[in-house]
Amino acid sequence: MASSLSASQKVVVVTGSSSGIGYETSLTLSRNGFLTYATMRNLNKSENIKSLAEKEKLPLKLIELDVTDDGSVKNAIQSIKAEANRIDVLVNNAGYGVNGAFEDLAMEEIRAQYETNLFGVIRVTQAVLPIMRKQKSGIIVNISSGAGRFGYPGGSAYVSTKFAIEGLSESMSYELEPFGIRVVLVEPGVIRTNFVNSMVAAKKSQDPNSPYSQLMKNVATSFQQMLEGGSSSDVVAKVVLKAVTSENPSLRYLAGKDVETWLDGKRNMSDEEFYKMMKQNLMK
Ligand SMILES: NC(=O)c1ccc[n+]([C@@H]2O[C@H](COP(=O)([O-])OP(=O)(O)OC[C@H]3O[C@@H](n4cnc5c(N)ncnc54)[C@H](OP(=O)(O)O)[C@@H]3O)[C@@H](O)[C@H]2O)c1
Repeated sequence: MASSLSASQKVVVVTGSSSGIGYETSLTLSRNGFLTYATMRNLNKSENIKSLAEKEKLPLKLIELDVTDDGSVKNAIQSIKAEANRIDVLVNNAGYGVNGAFEDLAMEEIRAQYETNLFGVIRVTQAVLPIMRKQKSGIIVNISSGAGRFGYPGGSAYVSTKFAIEGLSESMSYELEPFGIRVVLVEPGVIRTNFVNSMVAAKKSQDPNSPYSQLMKNVATSFQQMLEGGSSSDVVAKVVLKAVTSENPSLRYLAGKDVETWLDGKRNMSDEEFYKMMKQNLMK
């Protein structure tokens, strides 16, 4: 793995690089010349990316970073700053989904979801911002979701974290632009990653006596069908690359054919029509 930083080499930090979108994004950015810090909470999962990086002689380094842990975030960002002396791009990618009807969700299940998906993004971004502000440049890429623009049954915990990321990013962008820092939201559709396997089902929603049991079964069947037509994670990685190499990045980028179709619907339909269309698709 390359270790020296050339004057023109941009430095990237990606969270959640052990699998899926984070893994692919770290590889894509390093293959395109970015000195990439592929961070993950469990370095035991780094074997694949490490051996690929060695084989291809990529400028990719591994650092432990758990987005839910203040100390871990501080240590990781400090050691990257000490070594590379700058951070040009932060990709806030780490996340997982909690699945369950709202009434079935326990407070601790919701809190854990927010701790990773929202407070994780806040924690890492606040650690990186002073560095970007001093260097008067930077791009923060927040991996949101189509679910950052519309809800679905069983998704209230997950969807609300992604809506929060959208609002957070939109507000931050006004504050940071004067310092040369851009904020980008990447909104993937259904992507075939480890996401479904890592999904946490709310305990109560697994009880067959839950009043939402049948609804959750129907939704799970529809999602399974959508997953089969889902995109691969390199679709998202390419969108991130496009955003961070753009002279003037947009606030939002969609990633995946399905999400383009849904958001077309959102733009062209009334709320009532969109709601009806979602019901027909998800609650058959
Ligand atoms: N797949 C989709 O359809 C889809 C669609 C829209 C948006 N997204 C978003 O894309 C992002 C990546 O998901 P993915 O699809 O690539 O799923 P994935 O394959 O399950 O990857 C999730 C990554 O996040 C990491 N992670 C979870 N908790 C963490 C923590 N506390 N600290 C650091 N890393 C943590 C995981 O690490 P471990 O391996 O240690 O668990 C893993 O590296 C998420 O934000 C997700 O919401 C996914």
